[in-house]
Amino acid sequence: MGSASFLSTIGKRLEGKVATVTGGASGIGEATAKLFSEHGAKVAILDVQDELGNSVSNALGGSSNCIYIHCDVTNEDDIQNAVDKTIATFGKLDIMLCNAGISDEMKPRILDNMKADFERVLSINVTGVFLCMKHAARVMVPTRSGCIISTASISSVVGAAASHAYCSSKHAVLGLTKNLAVELGQFGIRVNCLSPYAMVTPLAMKAVGLENEQLEQALGTVGNLKGVTLRVDDIAKAALFLASDDAKYISGHNLFIDGGFSVYNPGLGMFKYPEF
Ligand SMILES: NC(=O)c1ccc[n+]([C@@H]2O[C@H](COP(=O)([O-])OP(=O)(O)OC[C@H]3O[C@@H](n4cnc5c(N)ncnc54)[C@H](O)[C@@H]3O)[C@@H](O)[C@H]2O)c1
Repeated sequence: MGSASFLSTIGKRLEGKVATVTGGASGIGEATAKLFSEHGAKVAILDVQDELGNSVSNALGGSSNCIYIHCDVTNEDDIQNAVDKTIATFGKLDIMLCNAGISDEMKPRILDNMKADFERVLSINVTGVFLCMKHAARVMVPTRSGCIISTASISSVVGAAASHAYCSSKHAVLGLTKNLAVELGQFGIRVNCLSPYAMVTPLAMKAVGLENEQLEQALGTVGNLKGVTLRVDDIAKAALFLASDDAKYISGHNLFIDGGFSVYNPGLGMFKYPEF
């Protein structure tokens, strides 16, 4: 490894950058806010869980490094205010991580699925991402720079891995990512999304009704890559890569962190070793 790439691997990769992380009070968002901060970024955590959000912000050094802003991503005024407050506090916005999301209860029959539940998932997972992208673009276009990353899911391309509402919502996040990558490419702004396989977080435990260890075990059985457990830190590292200058020419990309799950067809059982 050359000395320059060695330095970029061990050095602070977001020094001087400012990031907002929606859903930063818990799970993937919390892990990413921490990693961004460790890599020198000033971070604004946007969430609706005020106590948790404030405690993450305090753990990251408080107001000179990290602020918490109450922001419901379905409310455009909240998002506009959060973006403006981030800029008023830290001077600019380089990175928007649209990560806040929910899942509904998995009901395998469409006849049991209610319109209100479907719309609630789409309102947070899709309208929320749309509004975050819109207000990130509002402040990034004039500076002709910036990076927008959304947390999608393997459900952005794979069917039958989550509820109807969740699967629809993550397909839509991928669609928004592609459209915005084209629109904002004119201004040097990169737009990408992350597609993780499932891992233990409050969202996943609630969606399937399993606790930590049971869920981890079930995911290990169903997952393609054996002997490795996907954790929130792994998604944070992928977000760090996309946010950093190491990904300076990557845009419109859907980065899978899924151990090959999305390319695997369990029905055919191809390449299966008899001893497994
Ligand atoms: N955990 C998984 O297995 C998994 C897999 C793939 C993708 N994802 C995606 O990762 C993202 C983060 O989820 P997580 O698993 O870390 O779950 P989580 O429940 O730990 O975190 C989600 C956060 O979003 C916040 N949030 C919910 N509604 C909000 C709203 N209206 N406004 C602002 N914040 C709101 C919650 O308060 C919470 O802090 C989601 O978009 C989810 O769909 C999760």
